[in-house]
Amino acid sequence: MTDLTRLDAWQALAAHAESVRDTPMRALFDADPDRFQRFHLRLGDLVLDYSKNRLTAETLPLLVELARQTGVEARRDAMFAGQPINSTEQRSVLHVALRDPTDTPVLVDGADVKPEIRAVLERMKAFTTAVHDGTWRGATGKVITDVVNIGIGGSDLGPVMVTEALKPYARPGLRVHFVSNVDATHIATTLQGLDPATTLFLVASKTFTTQETLTNAQTARAWVVDALGETAVRHHFAALSTNAKAVEAFGIDPNVMFGFWDWVGGRYSLWSAIGLPIALAVGFEAFRALLDGAHAMDDHFRTAPLDQNMPVILALLGVWYGGFHGAHAHAVLPYDQSLHRLPAYLQQADMESNGKRVTLDGQPVAWGTGPILFGEPGTNGQHSFYQLIHQGTHLIPCDFLAPATSFHPLGRHHPILLSNVLAQAEALMRGRTEAEARAELEGRGLKGAELEALLPHIVFPGNRPSNTLVFRRLDPRTLGMIIALYEHKIHVQATVWGINAYDQWGVELGKRLAGAILPELEDDTRPLAHDASTNALIGLIREWRR
Ligand code: F6P
Repeated sequence: MTDLTRLDAWQALAAHAESVRDTPMRALFDADPDRFQRFHLRLGDLVLDYSKNRLTAETLPLLVELARQTGVEARRDAMFAGQPINSTEQRSVLHVALRDPTDTPVLVDGADVKPEIRAVLERMKAFTTAVHDGTWRGATGKVITDVVNIGIGGSDLGPVMVTEALKPYARPGLRVHFVSNVDATHIATTLQGLDPATTLFLVASKTFTTQETLTNAQTARAWVVDALGETAVRHHFAALSTNAKAVEAFGIDPNVMFGFWDWVGGRYSLWSAIGLPIALAVGFEAFRALLDGAHAMDDHFRTAPLDQNMPVILALLGVWYGGFHGAHAHAVLPYDQSLHRLPAYLQQADMESNGKRVTLDGQPVAWGTGPILFGEPGTNGQHSFYQLIHQGTHLIPCDFLAPATSFHPLGRHHPILLSNVLAQAEALMRGRTEAEARAELEGRGLKGAELEALLPHIVFPGNRPSNTLVFRRLDPRTLGMIIALYEHKIHVQATVWGINAYDQWGVELGKRLAGAILPELEDDTRPLAHDASTNALIGLIREWRR
């Protein structure tokens, strides 16, 4: 892999960054009343306003040139064509095929994957209908009232985030719960108040080997068997997995195993059988609309020119701030309570994908890769960490998300919410100059030493970048578009940085070490051979629980 920083496009951007460092966005807006027209994109009912970024007329062409020189188009096309772009695992990356309703074949090892995808979707639809209409019943003949999805990481975060976001579409009469943490508190508190006779468990695990999920699933199994006997398991458990053997060994009927494939990454899997809890929560039609929205974004990503391509633009802006403005973090700020799990979902999607330190060919990178991603719904975040974004020493580009309409049009709530999101983006961009701050303090009657002492504290440097995504309403289609937008942003950034977004070796070491420590916690006589800190902590735990 060529050294990214030696590419002509990178060098040109470095020089350009220096030349525009002293040009605040406020001046760019003052000089160009058409700035929004120039720097926004629309796809259906989704608008991306990226005008509040440190962009002059020269910046975008230079960034697009970087995308060209790093092969963004070729790698995008390779993904859609089913080539094994996840090179460390020799796997294709085909979450895009899961939501493609067309018959156009997509080949993996010479075989079209579309018929299998369609077959699983059909089975998911039939199962969803059976649970909803009461054809599928528990062991005692009672209708299912509660579904508990047991999974973690990609087998949890996407479905949780989407079912929360689409609550206005929830089917009455069926509650969907999620258990992920191996901390017994999670499953114990979830099962409180549930009736085994009316509860259906979905054991969601791509590998069906994940310790947390299997531990929780065994606890759930014991809970059902204690109440209803061994034969009840096949009425109360379904599996979402790629591992048919392990599912069968657990005792789950193969007829209620919904499969997917190794070319679906865990954090990209909500479109597969892993989406079954979504379909159960909101109905299969709404689940299909979610897939269709994602497919619309896929088509846009595949066909739009790079300089009019939403995921490409978002990705390049991140590269611009990380590479040339010293940004290490990125905030996702949905002004929609329904999207309260979006930051958590994107933490995995982005940081597990692009938290990488070596290039595709194994060389340590000499540039920054994925940012630290965090967020909270607005306006809560405003009363928490926004102070640092406005006046702290770190540059933190922000994504604001805002629905034009609310499902709960109560009083003035929604206009107040929207006034806040627009004001935050404006404040970050404009800031407050010393002259403005001085005038304000004088207006408040302050003068002399008192005014001078307060002045520096109320100056805002401004020039802090943000994107604003506005949409008509948070319906399944729009949500599908937004999720796919972020997936492709992550893909493009990985391409520019020359890293593999689709493996996650970094999470393995801790798992292995936990496997060694577990028997030491279960048997106090085992000798300890860790570092002094780990030995001491194990000793303390042994002592305190005696
Ligand atoms: O955290 C590591 C990881 O492998 C994730 O990538 C994945 O989403 C999660 O564990 C759960 O894995 P599985 O679906 O195989 O249980």
